[in-house]
Amino acid sequence: MSKDKKARSVGRASHEPAKRRPMEFLGENSGDNKIRSHIPVMLQEMLDAMKPDDGEIYVDGTFGAGGYSKALLEAAHCTVYAIDRDPNVATLAEKLKAAFPGRFFWLTGNFGDMCDLLAAHGVTEVNGIVLDIGVSSMQLDTAARGFSFKADGPLDMRMSASGESAADIVNNADEEDIADILYQYGEERKSRQIARAIVHARDAKPITRTSELADIVRRVVGTKDGLDPSTRTFQALRIKINDELGELERALASAERLLAPRGRLVVVTFHSLEDRIVKQFFQSRSGETRGGSRHLPTTAAARLPTFLLAKKKPILSSLAEIHSNPRARSAKLRVAIRAEAA
Ligand SMILES: C[S@@+](CC[C@H](N)C(=O)[O-])C[C@H]1O[C@@H](n2cnc3c(N)ncnc32)[C@H](O)[C@@H]1O
Repeated sequence: MSKDKKARSVGRASHEPAKRRPMEFLGENSGDNKIRSHIPVMLQEMLDAMKPDDGEIYVDGTFGAGGYSKALLEAAHCTVYAIDRDPNVATLAEKLKAAFPGRFFWLTGNFGDMCDLLAAHGVTEVNGIVLDIGVSSMQLDTAARGFSFKADGPLDMRMSASGESAADIVNNADEEDIADILYQYGEERKSRQIARAIVHARDAKPITRTSELADIVRRVVGTKDGLDPSTRTFQALRIKINDELGELERALASAERLLAPRGRLVVVTFHSLEDRIVKQFFQSRSGETRGGSRHLPTTAAARLPTFLLAKKKPILSSLAEIHSNPRARSAKLRVAIRAEAA
């Protein structure tokens, strides 16, 4: 099939839209302390959008448990460069390397730096980039990583296992800064009360465990809409600690530079803050709007479109997938095709 024909049929998979929850499950692990392998979300939809072909080069910017990388490598005689900032996935990556010799390359680092990471391997142009944003099940379910409010662990939340931890922020940041983080990245309406309670608690003793923070938040928020009251606080801290929104913006700008004409950019997001960034980027780069993020370069947008939208609306997980993998319930997949414009 020609690339043009392929591009036109991207996103044709039709799935019954699922009833969505207002906020992702972020920080919600299964609570039984079992570490599950990550089940890739919307795997078939990702393949339908990417249309892997022999000889092509793809970037899997969020390797995780390697579900997307493996599916791409199995679907065509292609090459995959996989990136993850979490050093703990190295063992899984080594297995893929052995299974697909000469076709799978593993790079530790941030997907926001993908141009530099690939340039170090002599790669300056690729045919497809996929990003499956957020944390993996292994990260959430490992209590020692400190992502979950359901399993007690150190208050950490660093995907890369380096840099500032959640405990550093909770114990050292100003009350006002904590409130701003909870409001901006968690859309937490009670951000000020929670920040006050955190500062009050840490005056007595440092907050070092996920269960301590979750209890403080629960006492302030109370239970109402079925979500654990600490969901938003944990989401906010995780996004802040890992600069998740900044990374996403840098990755989109990098993808614009790295993709060959007719290359596909597929992004799966799990909450509205991320999806808004992707949606606005695609709109501005496809000429739908002149706006976009203030962090992204605007010169290209002001001229010719650099992306074509296969579909304006995001693709959602099917009810069947949500039934078998509840973590798919808030996923949104967006796809755009790189245009010819420089
Ligand atoms: C949802 S999981 C990906 C799962 C994967 N698609 C699979 O099928 O197994 C997200 C992964 O992206 C990684 N990640 C998140 N932000 C990143 C970033 N800025 N740079 C590199 N990796 C990142 C996380 O460490 C995690 O392993």
